Amino acid sequence: MSGFLPEYSTPATNRRVLLTSRPEGIPQASHFALDEAPLDPVGDGQFRVRNVYLSVDPAQRGWVNAIANYSDPVAIGSVMRALAVGVVVESRNADVPVGLHLYGWFGWQDYAVVGPEAIMTRIDTVAAPLSAYAGMLGMNGLTAWLAFTRIGRAEPGETVLVTTAAGAVGSTVGQLAREAGCRVVGLTGDDGKVARCTQRFGYDAAANYKAGDVADLIKGMAPDGIDVFFDNVGGPMMDTAIRQMRVNGRIVQCGTASIANWSPPPHGPRNEREVLMRRLQWGGFVIFDHTARYAQAMAALEALLASGKLVHDEDIATGFDAAPGAIARLYAGENEGKALIFVG
Ligand SMILES: NC(=O)c1ccc[n+]([C@@H]2O[C@H](COP(=O)([O-])OP(=O)(O)OC[C@H]3O[C@@H](n4cnc5c(N)ncnc54)[C@H](OP(=O)(O)O)[C@@H]3O)[C@@H](O)[C@H]2O)c1
Repeated sequence: MSGFLPEYSTPATNRRVLLTSRPEGIPQASHFALDEAPLDPVGDGQFRVRNVYLSVDPAQRGWVNAIANYSDPVAIGSVMRALAVGVVVESRNADVPVGLHLYGWFGWQDYAVVGPEAIMTRIDTVAAPLSAYAGMLGMNGLTAWLAFTRIGRAEPGETVLVTTAAGAVGSTVGQLAREAGCRVVGLTGDDGKVARCTQRFGYDAAANYKAGDVADLIKGMAPDGIDVFFDNVGGPMMDTAIRQMRVNGRIVQCGTASIANWSPPPHGPRNEREVLMRRLQWGGFVIFDHTARYAQAMAALEALLASGKLVHDEDIATGFDAAPGAIARLYAGENEGKALIFVG
């Protein structure tokens, strides 16, 4: 076994985190319940994955709310939808052998019985700590790399603004922008994260958006304006930053974490005149549209990690008890890096 792999047990029953009621807005611990069930049988073509790290993602809010989204909401009473990294412990699929590590749609539970359609990436060689495949080498890193390169298209010397600057996606974008030869500035939610942005992730400047006027903070960090705005929050920060975009700027709309509820759609200033006058390109991004490019992005991220040009922080809780409140914790900004739960 590789030194990158933690020890894990193989319990005889399946602990699961079920969605028990439909939240409006941010899911709280009270919307979930823990239970334990017998193991499902493995059908033809299927395999059983023993989850080791469960992913906690802001997107899970959209997966449980009854709002227009890119996927159907998780059904009440079913296992909470989640990405996870784990190992195949039983298989009736010749292409997916026992012992193979996988990252995919395995849910908040000990075991998933699934077919190949549930795999997001195959980890044929475990070349980094297993947890990294659920973060920097998983959805978060892939999103950062693909959205930044395909929509941001930053040129050396340009100024890039990142929101959720210290988070799993944001900290990666910040480092990619620095590697691209840009001036990189970030907004984040507390002074400790501001320090991590500048001292660990190589931002030229960062600011705590809760501790000042956001327009002044952006102006102070980017007096000549912003060429690429990588936005993970939307709302008032977006409305403020768009008014400091330079002509021909690009906006990557990667997340909308600051919007408490989409139903009914919240009001804000009209931004279309800003888009027109500044000749902006404002592109929405959903990682699952880019499966054909995962391998290219993984290779680029692995090379940057191996060369030490990319660092990442993980915020790993242990045990299923941490799961029900984990999404609310993200939206309170309490995570310091990629939020994961070790259940091995
Ligand atoms: N489009 C896609 O395909 C895709 C894929 C992955 C992730 N994303 C998006 O990328 C963003 C970051 O995801 P992540 O996994 O890297 O999480 P993360 O940044 O590690 O954690 C979430 C962070 O969001 C910030 N936040 C929470 N509530 C906020 C609010 N009301 N206003 C402003 N900021 C708030 C907090 O950071 P602060 O303390 O800095 O406020 C919190 O730490 C999310 O919006 C997520 O939906 C999009």
